[in-house]
Amino acid sequence: MIVTFGSINVDFVNRVERIPSPGETVLGPDYAVIPGGKGANQALAARRAGAEVALVGAVGQDPFAAIALSLLRRDGVDLSRAAAVDAPTGAAYIAVSAAGENAIVVAAGANARVVASQMDGLALGAGDTLLLQREVPEAEVVKAARAAKRAGARVILNAAPAGEVSRELLGALDVLVVNEHEVAIVAAGLGLAGGPDDLARQIDADHGVATIVTLGGEGAVGWTGGVRRSAPALPVEVVDTTAAGDTFCGAFAAAMDQGLGFTTALARAAAAGSLACATAGAQPSIPMKAAIDAVAADFLA
Ligand code: RIB
Repeated sequence: MIVTFGSINVDFVNRVERIPSPGETVLGPDYAVIPGGKGANQALAARRAGAEVALVGAVGQDPFAAIALSLLRRDGVDLSRAAAVDAPTGAAYIAVSAAGENAIVVAAGANARVVASQMDGLALGAGDTLLLQREVPEAEVVKAARAAKRAGARVILNAAPAGEVSRELLGALDVLVVNEHEVAIVAAGLGLAGGPDDLARQIDADHGVATIVTLGGEGAVGWTGGVRRSAPALPVEVVDTTAAGDTFCGAFAAAMDQGLGFTTALARAAAAGSLACATAGAQPSIPMKAAIDAVAADFLA
């Protein structure tokens, strides 16, 4: 089983010609309200990739909660640990440019109320996976990671949004997933310097944490136990990159959960993340297992 401990949002998505600079206003034609949040997106990605998934998080008691949970519920993510709290459902304000790039501002709302004790009784153990991000309180992320590690579960952190990772949190991880920007910040906090590939190598070597760097259109590189693996991105027409990283993380966790091994998991994750770029919106863009299977077969041949 995969337990995702993280955020649940509604995304207000505005398509604009280009992302505004500070102090600037740009006009878009309209907006869409779409289920999102890094925790929810990753839970759904793992579920659609074929895993049993429970999501631990929180929403408000407002009309946005039903929207935020709608696709998770429809696709069979266990929401029994998703609390309804006295705070607004988390919201993300997303501008997507004509080139498919995005800029995101998140209002935490109910996500700020998520606590590690919501996981009590889940009985994680060897063979289970805890999948983490950083849109819920960091202290609770650390508690959840340490508890899962003690129980013998695999612990994966997607260090997004970017920030340093404490040695306490790093010590509870098996796998770290970061993009090029995030790895530079994590590495600087650890006193490491170099390019993304070499930073991943150093984190793996110095801290015993398998480290994957997603490289956008260049695919991904991962270091585990001193061994380097890489996977290309699929050539897709990029419509919207929102949740591509989340899809990568969920698909990777699902493949590891299914016992497919690091190299295959990396390739399936890169394929899934690429597919997510071809469709607009966070959760609507996350591919089903059959779609990943169809491309991964050629990809891995
Ligand atoms: O990673 C994409 C997600 O970041 C969006 O769905 C938004 O909700 C923010 O959490």
